[in-house]
Amino acid sequence: MTIKEGRIMENGKEFEVVFPTAADSEMWAEQISQLILEASQAKNSGLAQRSPEHIRTKIRENKAVLALKRDDKTLAGFCYIDTWQNGEYVVTSGLIVKPEFRGKGIATLLKKELFNHARKNFSQAKIFGLTTSGAVIKINSDLGYRAASYADITTDKGFWKGCETCANYDILQRTNGRLCLCTAMLYNPNEHGATAE
Ligand SMILES: CC(C)(COP(=O)(O)OP(=O)(O)OC[C@H]1O[C@@H](n2cnc3c(N)ncnc32)[C@H](O)[C@@H]1OP(=O)(O)O)[C@@H](O)C(=O)NCCC(=O)NCCS
Repeated sequence: MTIKEGRIMENGKEFEVVFPTAADSEMWAEQISQLILEASQAKNSGLAQRSPEHIRTKIRENKAVLALKRDDKTLAGFCYIDTWQNGEYVVTSGLIVKPEFRGKGIATLLKKELFNHARKNFSQAKIFGLTTSGAVIKINSDLGYRAASYADITTDKGFWKGCETCANYDILQRTNGRLCLCTAMLYNPNEHGATAE
């Protein structure tokens, strides 16, 4: 991996993973938000929507990664991290891969890059995620996350507010925030000796 002008270039073949600039945020935020909206409307999906403004903010905060097709710089995927409870917790959110590029390892690349970013910049933080996706459960497990209960992840109301646009939000409300369709997964740094490379 080499760092060039603030961007991190992955050594993949067809795709590159980059930390986007503020200029990139203007170019991609609308499209990313639309991709997440379309995925959230798919049958059996448990996906919260993310506004273009929210995506711009995460990019400007240097908390987001993009996957681009190397040859023509077509957008292929996106993901970001957020911190909660004064940095005690970090979550990865907004993961999306364009339908035509799925099954090529792009989500794996994006999640790995953000995981290493979180371990370097928030080394004491517990890293967690909520997902209904078997692929994401697989990726998280490979990174060292384990299944957790909702009580093990952040109690920050700001985080849970992000679930309000999910089609399954009524379930979360009915259970007083204890249960929903997403599997919670947690990486606790205290259970792992080594730091990110
Ligand atoms: C979920 C999503 C991000 C996966 O992206 P992707 O780029 O196709 O994923 P990858 O190609 O990196 O595959 C991840 C791994 O999961 C595996 N996998 C795929 N489907 C799986 C399933 N149902 N159960 C278990 N593992 C699965 C793949 O084989 C791969 O493992 P491998 O590298 O060991 O072969 C993509 O399908 C998507 O954007 N879906 C809509 C939005 C969404 O659900 N986002 C997740 C929110 S948490």
